[in-house]
Amino acid sequence: MDAAADLKALEARLLTEIDNAATLAALDDVRIAALGKKGSVSELMAGIGKVPPEEKKAYGATVNTIKTRVSDALAARKAVLDSAAVDARLATERADVTLPVRLGPLSEGRIHPVSQVFEEVVEIFADMGFAVAEGPDIETDDLNFTRLNIPPEHPARQDHDTFYLNQTGDGARMLLRTHTSPVQIRTMMSQKPPIRIIAPGRVYRIDSDATHTPMFHQIEALVIDEATHMGHLKWVLEEFCKAFFEVDDVKMRFRASHFPFTEPSMEVDIDAAAIGKPGRWLEILGAGMVHPNVIRNCGLDPEKYQGFAFGMGLDRITMLKYGIPDLRDMFSADLRWMKHYGFLPLDIPTISGGAAG
Ligand code: DAH
Repeated sequence: MDAAADLKALEARLLTEIDNAATLAALDDVRIAALGKKGSVSELMAGIGKVPPEEKKAYGATVNTIKTRVSDALAARKAVLDSAAVDARLATERADVTLPVRLGPLSEGRIHPVSQVFEEVVEIFADMGFAVAEGPDIETDDLNFTRLNIPPEHPARQDHDTFYLNQTGDGARMLLRTHTSPVQIRTMMSQKPPIRIIAPGRVYRIDSDATHTPMFHQIEALVIDEATHMGHLKWVLEEFCKAFFEVDDVKMRFRASHFPFTEPSMEVDIDAAAIGKPGRWLEILGAGMVHPNVIRNCGLDPEKYQGFAFGMGLDRITMLKYGIPDLRDMFSADLRWMKHYGFLPLDIPTISGGAAG
């Protein structure tokens, strides 16, 4: 074989090797074997010294052509392998965004129905211009009872089976608040009217049977202004019930009752039609016009200011709205119960966002 045939054969072999390189790494091996310092094409270049002078020009041109063809073939093959590598990555790393979200901690956890209702109620009242007020679970006798017009020895104290704490040094006795009403007192003592607050929170009574738990939840509301009357109370309660039970109309019944801190006082029932059981009346709250003594006890002038208050059982309205049959289950920390009645953190119903699917 003459020299020209050798060069042709080398070129053909290199081009075949380039074509056959299945991976970028294999292709790089071919490149180094051909164009690297000791590569076959590079050595051809280096060997030009041994070529007779009259053949040098033709030889150089041929070798250069081979080098160019090999370089071009390498580049072309590299482009093919590069895009194949991207395709392969895309195939293995493809994310199907239409798949349901995979089970993880977020889908395991649940929002307790009472927490959910807490948020719903706050949102509804915030929409009506109420602010949220808070008070401590451990309360003084004075705020829980006396200033609410329930002085020591008042028979109404017996209605509240109170958890008392040990006496403090000065003889005062603290207690676990038996209702959220002391937040009314705290608010009137620290804010100037007009007052428009709700106070959701835990309350405690020594009581435990099928329909009572020693800890439960109430939401208190208080409005104090210069011209507030029962019509306002009725309107607020009706608007609340319609929004909360998500109905256009709700029938309510106001029954005369007695609370030391309101005059007149009433208990309010709703027609259970709101929850799909027409004809049954369900008591949901106690309410009334704030007693002048209470307003006076907080340092405000009852001749100038008056208003209304109500206290509602949060657990009760939670059970009504979400069809929960047993109060005690609500606080038994049973995960199966939470899975059934709880809400997914990212899928909770709100009045502004609409009901969850
Ligand atoms: N505090 C009362 C209770 O726990 C409920 C209540 C009734 C609150 C009438 C009020 C009210 O604010 O006006 O039984």
